[in-house]
Amino acid sequence: MGSLKDRPSLDWQMAADRAAQQVAVNAALFGENYPGHCTDDGIYRLRPALGVFPDGANQGWTTGFVPGAQWAAWELTGAESLRDAALGHVASFARRADERIDTQTHDLGFLYTLSCVTAWQLAGDQRARSAALRAADLLLERVLEPAGIVQAWGAPDDPAQRGRTIIDSLMNMPLLFWAADAAGQPGLAATAERHVRQLRDHIIRPDGSTFHTYYWDIATGAALRASTQQGLSDDSCWARGQAWGILGFAINYRHCADASLLDAASRCADYYLAHLPDDGVPMWDLAFGESDDQPRDSSAAAIAACGLLELAGHLDMTGSGAAAGAYRQAAEAACASLVSGYVPDSVESGRPLLLHGVYDMPMGNGIDEGNLWGDYFYLEALLRLTNTQWAPWW
Ligand code: GLY
Repeated sequence: MGSLKDRPSLDWQMAADRAAQQVAVNAALFGENYPGHCTDDGIYRLRPALGVFPDGANQGWTTGFVPGAQWAAWELTGAESLRDAALGHVASFARRADERIDTQTHDLGFLYTLSCVTAWQLAGDQRARSAALRAADLLLERVLEPAGIVQAWGAPDDPAQRGRTIIDSLMNMPLLFWAADAAGQPGLAATAERHVRQLRDHIIRPDGSTFHTYYWDIATGAALRASTQQGLSDDSCWARGQAWGILGFAINYRHCADASLLDAASRCADYYLAHLPDDGVPMWDLAFGESDDQPRDSSAAAIAACGLLELAGHLDMTGSGAAAGAYRQAAEAACASLVSGYVPDSVESGRPLLLHGVYDMPMGNGIDEGNLWGDYFYLEALLRLTNTQWAPWW
């Protein structure tokens, strides 16, 4: 994981071909079942049984990254088997939405944007379109008035989670923007915009760092207090949360065209970039630096790279070319680092695309392992680098 200096420029398509090979091998291994959120000793295994769910079931917040990675790998290589594999997941996601299977979460956006909006947009699959609209309806059930926020976790009457939202939720709003257009209901877009503005106003600190989660008073709608779930402390800056902030504010600008969101994304980016170690891949919390003996989170680097590229594209259009160039350069440097230092040395059954991620340090989950979202966003970063015209699914 040496310094970025003096590295030769990389052939992104070669990296993409290699990553797509791994996606294809894992698609053959798991079929229409799902691996766990993270690798276990470096290898993905069938998603463990949980409560009523058997091994490999479509439950939890990360299963959409499986078809998402397959769609991304298909776009990068044109391999039809990957498109078929991705379409093979639509039935499971349609059933999950129809039968409300583990749908008490804001992560419906991650789940259905990548599994079903993709299948509709890229293959015209009508069942996927209906499932994504159904998922958007389920997400709407989580909107709390008068705060105008989407509750992140738990049932709406869960006292521990009531009124709480989290920075990751920015990535779940594009499902509502998509549904607003698809169903001809502009009110859905207004709901998403309101949520995004609440996060812009409360989840970013004055120095550009971010809180992980934030509570609102459900009766008055007043913004109450911050707390962390996966970061070091309530007043530290969880690296992946900061990456969600960069990408989330920039991607929602695509839908809202509100310049304050570009400013929010830029503030998140500037803080993030000022707290990176030499190889451009952050420690799991930005409180830690190069000299601390702490694990890095490669997934945060992949998400942030997508965010920096998204932000740079918008800044180019608004006449801020110098800032755009710096963000693009930082994204390319981080991706070069991922390609040269974080990819397993060979393609083998069950391996991740990226090594060295952290899921949840406080809970001791997925530490120094690969994970499904890191793999997906690595592919998305490669899509953005190999095709500057790539239109996000978000
Ligand atoms: N969205 C959950 C996480 O980033 O861990």
